[in-house]
Amino acid sequence: MGALGLAPSAEASAKAAFEPPEPSHFSLTGRSAKKVVILGAGVAGLATAYELGKAGYDCTILEALDRVGGRNWTIRGGDRLTELDGSTQVARFREGVYMNAGPARLAQWMVTMDYCRELGVDLEVFTNSNAQAYIYHQSMPAPVRWRTAKADVYGYVSELLSRATDAGALDAALTTQDKERLIAFLSGFGSVGNRASGFAYTGGSRRGYSVDPGAGEQTGTPLGPVPSLSEVLSSGVGQRFSFEFGYDQAMLMFQPVGGMDAIPRAFAAKIGRQRIRLGSVVTKITDWADGVEVEYRDGRGRTQKIRADLCVAAMPPHILARTPHNLGAEVQAALSTPNVTNSGKIGLEYRRRWWEIDEDIYGGITSTDLDLATIWYPSHGYGAARGLVVGYYNFGAQADAYAALKHADRERRAVEQGMRIHGAKYRDELVSSVSVAWKLQPHIEGAWVGWPSRQGAYQLLNSPAGHVYFAGDWLSHMIAWQSGALESARKVVTELHQRTLSTA
Ligand code: PHE
Repeated sequence: MGALGLAPSAEASAKAAFEPPEPSHFSLTGRSAKKVVILGAGVAGLATAYELGKAGYDCTILEALDRVGGRNWTIRGGDRLTELDGSTQVARFREGVYMNAGPARLAQWMVTMDYCRELGVDLEVFTNSNAQAYIYHQSMPAPVRWRTAKADVYGYVSELLSRATDAGALDAALTTQDKERLIAFLSGFGSVGNRASGFAYTGGSRRGYSVDPGAGEQTGTPLGPVPSLSEVLSSGVGQRFSFEFGYDQAMLMFQPVGGMDAIPRAFAAKIGRQRIRLGSVVTKITDWADGVEVEYRDGRGRTQKIRADLCVAAMPPHILARTPHNLGAEVQAALSTPNVTNSGKIGLEYRRRWWEIDEDIYGGITSTDLDLATIWYPSHGYGAARGLVVGYYNFGAQADAYAALKHADRERRAVEQGMRIHGAKYRDELVSSVSVAWKLQPHIEGAWVGWPSRQGAYQLLNSPAGHVYFAGDWLSHMIAWQSGALESARKVVTELHQRTLSTA
């Protein structure tokens, strides 16, 4: 029945197909795997080496930093962070406490999930939206829980729409039956009263309680007072809700157990650490008629050269644009085209998990119109002694404002602002902190990029320049996601392998 299309079936995965290169592909063609130099051990570079390695390509990765992963970076106690101006922080986090400074959430449909399965990276739920977390706007007298904001917005919208429908205001759009169906939907959606009550929204248990229901006669005290429609609209809380409707942000989301860097670590282990040259800064890329030569400065400051048949440049475009090469003026202009976005995070380590103990918040995100933008509660380690809250995760101008400060001032500003939501314990129970300003991270210098257009430069770099291919999230339609880097790597691997199979 299924084969005939007569039985219903669930929607299939919408992921792009990918066939990894295999050694057997060479047996019929008489051709052999080539030597490939990969620039950058970020997620795109690692995935490229991993996939090509399956067919026996001889890959070498040059990585400027002393770790793999690029922006996939988990900071733990003892880790040292140095910014472009040389200022340094050393994380003092206790055992088990960490911050994912870059990527921190995976959507189920992303290819990243498949790599976690293949690489044996354990996953756990990452709580991206939590009814128990807050929305805080400076115009509001106090933060409001997401559940309360939703109850009020959905409630009043349902009341208005039910009334309008019932009064015939939508008769041109709705049949009599549809009107009844819409009213039935709104009754549950907004938890509003019946027709006789004028479909009134009067609050209720969805808003939460000031005293929870309990045993015996304890019915609970519903949270009040219910704000007026006008107050709810002027608070602007409803404008926050669409965040979780995004294809890339909807629950459930996931994270690797123990830190996001489990992904690059697993890749590096499969590739073989000996193929990855850390502390190697690319200084020149030369495309020859028969291959490519890359010059780099090694960890001891010596200039080295490596020759290969092909190259995959998986570095940020703005760093490549500063690297001498002979790939031509058009490539140079294209590499300089995307606009770099900044982003920042601060990890606040607390001696007590007050968000769980005092506020019943287990994971999730508080959204604000403060320049800290969002506060993230950890989706792991519930009930442990300590924990880490992300005190800001912001972009653009807000991130620039924090980047301009020394770490101690970033901490002071983040804590001062966060106290408006969580009170004095937000300052008093803090034990250590670390902040990352992505535009100040050596060899990365940005969080992600944006293209003014997907014509021209973007298209040019999505095809090879001589023997040099380009890969990264910046060459995908999933910028600022590891899945973008992984899909880009797969595309380049496929094209590079096809070329190898079809040319002598
Ligand atoms: N992937 C990043 C994040 O989830 C950046 C991003 C934010 C991308 C919002 C798209 C939408 O935070």
